[in-house]
Amino acid sequence: MRPSIFKLVVLLIAVWIAAGECNAQGLKMNFYQESCPLAELIVKTIIQRSVLSNPALPAKFLRMHFHDCFVRGCDASILLDTVDNNAKAEKEAVPNLSLSGFDVIDYIKTQIELLCPNTVSCADILALAARDSVSFLYNWPLWDVPTGRREGDEDGKERDNRGEKGGRISQFINCSLWEVPTGRRDGRISLASDVIANIPSPFSDFNTLMQLFNRKGLNLTDLVLLSGGHTIGVAHCATFSPRLYNFSGHGDQDPSLDPSYAEFLKKRCPNPANPATIVAMDPKSALTFDKHYYQTLLENKGLFVSDAALLTNSDSAKIVGRLHISNSFIPQFANSMKKMGAIEVLTGTAGEIRKQCRVVN
Ligand code: HEM
Ligand SMILES: *[C@@H]1O[C@H](CO)[C@@H](O)[C@H](O)[C@H]1NC(C)=O
Ligand SMILES: *[C@@H]1O[C@H](CO)[C@@H](O)[C@H](O)[C@H]1NC(C)=O
Ligand SMILES: *[C@@H]1O[C@H](CO)[C@@H](O)[C@H](O)[C@H]1NC(C)=O
Ligand SMILES: *[C@@H]1O[C@H](CO)[C@@H](O)[C@H](O)[C@H]1NC(C)=O
Repeated sequence: MRPSIFKLVVLLIAVWIAAGECNAQGLKMNFYQESCPLAELIVKTIIQRSVLSNPALPAKFLRMHFHDCFVRGCDASILLDTVDNNAKAEKEAVPNLSLSGFDVIDYIKTQIELLCPNTVSCADILALAARDSVSFLYNWPLWDVPTGRREGDEDGKERDNRGEKGGRISQFINCSLWEVPTGRRDGRISLASDVIANIPSPFSDFNTLMQLFNRKGLNLTDLVLLSGGHTIGVAHCATFSPRLYNFSGHGDQDPSLDPSYAEFLKKRCPNPANPATIVAMDPKSALTFDKHYYQTLLENKGLFVSDAALLTNSDSAKIVGRLHISNSFIPQFANSMKKMGAIEVLTGTAGEIRKQCRVVN
């Protein structure tokens, strides 16, 4: 009798310790339930208000979260400002191009610090901001707002007058597109020199993309799904114009790009282009988070070489075809986002909880 009860107790303690360790090392849903119960609500409320006045923000936060996770893991290293000019921070690397929305993150952090100091990480705030902003955009049609929607224009003013009307907007909605387990902690290092090796270039071929994603524990399915993030947002001419004017160094055009779409792009981006000009990546639905990106690809209108590359491998092309005809984009995208949001996270006592998202403590 005794020995077996003893064994049972030992076993229970071992399981309990193991579970404790599991939680300490991984992320979990509602990590701040006890320590800062209003944290997630504060993020969501501020994000919804910001997106109402600037519908371009969801694309900014989604891309910012991707860049954060691919360089040193999802540790908010993308949010740090440069302190030493000899070692510039990630956000100053060339592929940053149009990263923005940092001010909104700062505002959220300030509000949360007032309520629960030193508790909620910037990395979690960014992961939640990406989820909440894209979800809000996705749920937009539910809100029955007079549209007046404009697609991403080249002048950069893709704001519209949504939200000026429609009293129901002030209500709170919470249809979240993907789960964001929390408990990430913030890193202390941010180097522009880490960016090039980890963030894929828009001129990457299929094998390069696959290698970069595999290195982060993401597979082919994730590559095709996460590239679907390009269903919203804009890109600068420089990210694709060699496809229009000098594809192989002989003044030629990329033969894999639809010729009439190429003509359209050339009008927007003459050679040389105004460096500030932007183009919608999914022109028919630049502000709608949907599966239309895959139709764009199949019409050979993917904007980047890296988008078109998804058709150059037969397994990848099959996934594109399936996503185009099925209704599984949203749930599958959710699955891949959850994986991306867990890349090389710092948890437990690793890293720190920054007091301000732009500087280490
Ligand atoms: C597969 C490799 C990828 C490449 C080569 C790539 C490249 C790019 C480039 C060059 C831009 C345009 C930036 C500019 O000109 O301002 C862009 C924009 C964007 N990317 Fe990606 N990206 C990739 C994957 C992803 C992933 C995984 C996500 C998120 C899930 C994502 C989300 C976005 C969004 C939302 C924008 C629009 C940003 C805006 O409107 O300002 N991308 N991407
Ligand atoms: C992006 O990098 C450039 C330098 O390459 C820098 O001037 C700019 O401030 C950076 N953008 C952000 C948002 O930090
Ligand atoms: C809304 O939020 C509540 C509380 O966090 C949650 O229980 C519920 O499942 C959410 N509903 C949706 C549709 O996400
Ligand atoms: C990628 O991983 C997911 C699990 O997250 C799995 O369902 C899917 O089949 C995998 N895809 C490939 C091509 O291995
Ligand atoms: C095209 O690329 C080649 C090789 O990189 C270069 O020598 C040439 O000057 C470029 N032509 C134009 C019009 O940019």
